[in-house]
Parts: sequence; C-alpha cells; structure tokens
Amino acid sequence: MAMLACEHVGGRAVDALDLGCAVEMVHTASLVLDDLPCMDDATLRRGAPTIHTSHGEDAAILAAIALLNQAYATIVHAEAIRPATKLDVLRSLTAAVGFDGLSQGQIRDLRDAPGCRNEASLRRLNHQKTSALFISALESGGAVGGGTVEQNRSLVIFGEAVGFAFQLRDDLMDVFVSSRDTGKDERQDADKLTFLDLWGEARLRATIVESLARARDAVGPDCALSRYVDSFFAERRP
Ligand code: IPE
Ligand code: MG
Ligand code: MG
Ligand code: MG
Repeated sequence: MAMLACEHVGGRAVDALDLGCAVEMVHTASLVLDDLPCMDDATLRRGAPTIHTSHGEDAAILAAIALLNQAYATIVHAEAIRPATKLDVLRSLTAAVGFDGLSQGQIRDLRDAPGCRNEASLRRLNHQKTSALFISALESGGAVGGGTVEQNRSLVIFGEAVGFAFQLRDDLMDVFVSSRDTGKDERQDADKLTFLDLWGEARLRATIVESLARARDAVGPDCALSRYVDSFFAERRP
C-alpha cells in the first residue's frame, strides 16, 4: 500500500519499495511481540509455529528489536527517498510505533479492564494498535511520491478507514474462521471486549462495508488503492 500510495500521487511505485519493506519489518516485529506468552501467547502465525515456539522467547524478542532497527536503517539508506522526505517518513513511522501509537494500543489491549471499554475507547485502541501503521504507510508513500497536502489528507482518511475495517474483520475472524484458514490461533480474544461483543455480528459487518466505502470515497473508486483493498476484503471474507 505504501507503493500504491506513492503511485497514487504521481510518483513511481518502485521509489517506495524500501518504505514498503520498512513497514513490513515494523509490522512483522509487532506480530512477533504480540504472539509472545506475556502478550497473546499464540502458537501459530501465518500457518507456521510462532517464532518464540520454534526458536525461543530470547530469539523472538531480539528478532523484533532487530527488525525495528532494520526498518529505520532501511529508510536512512533508501536511495530513492529525498533526505528531507526521509525525516518525514521517520517521524511518521516512529510516531505510529511509539508511546502514542502501536505500543500504547497494545498495552491498552492487554491491560484495559473490560468494564472500561466502550465504543470511544475501543475506537481509540484500534486506531493506535492497527490504523496508525496503515496511515503511516500511506502518508509516507504519498510523501515519497511528492504528493500535495490535499492528496496526503485523502491518504490519511483512506488509511484510517481501511485500518478500522481491517481490525473489525480481524475480530470477526477470531470467532468465525478456523485456524486452518487464518493461519493463527482461534479465539484469541475470548476474554476481551471487542466490537463484535459491543455491536454484534450484523452491525460489525455493516460497519466494515461502510468503512470501505469511506476509504473508496477518499481516494476515488477507480484507483489502484481502492481496487487493491476491495479485492483484499472480497477474497478474504470471514
Ligand atoms: C495485534 O492485534 C496488533 C499488533 C500487533 C500491533 P491482534 O492481537 O488482534 O492481532 P492478531 O489477531 O494476533 O493477528
Ligand atoms: Mg494482540
Ligand atoms: Mg494477537
Ligand atoms: Mg486479533
């Protein structure tokens, strides 16, 4: 999506390849940590044993640190990104991962008392743990492609809407799809309050559709970004 965002604003997709790799490394690091026994205690990821089950917790923690480190190094060394843009990208990615982003989303997901969860707090939690990285990938892709302020704003709205839909779909899959099809443990969220508990299945599914429509509206229905997201959700319908 970083590469598609770059192309969307008139840049060359390949110029955002390093950015895409950096986002992928951040994402993978976040999953390796998320799967640890002290967090979700998961045994399966992408259809294979989680890193800590196959290689030990020590290796998993160090792999996550190395991946995060390598993500930022990849941006620093990216030849196709202008120096000033690198700073914008690093600012965006570090904010998405940091105290007000993914890290806070994760700790809230793990530690929030179920009683204090309501629609507003859950929206914020999902924004931090999931949408923040989508937004960062998209706005950074736009920056690499030399997008205007207006284009950047559309990419942020798109990222927010897709991130929200993605996490809703993830919560749905946790309950309705077997680990054979998701490649990860079932019923990981059994002791958590998610939007599925709050809204029920019908409203949750309707909100995914609404969010995807909002995403499409932000960037236009006939562009590669919209087509990519539409096919992603259509092919992997829980
Ligand atoms: C994890 O959320 C989000 C991050 C890694 C930041 P989940 O715990 O719901 O993700 P899955 O279900 O294990 O993939
Ligand atoms: Mg988790
Ligand atoms: Mg998890
Ligand atoms: Mg999940």
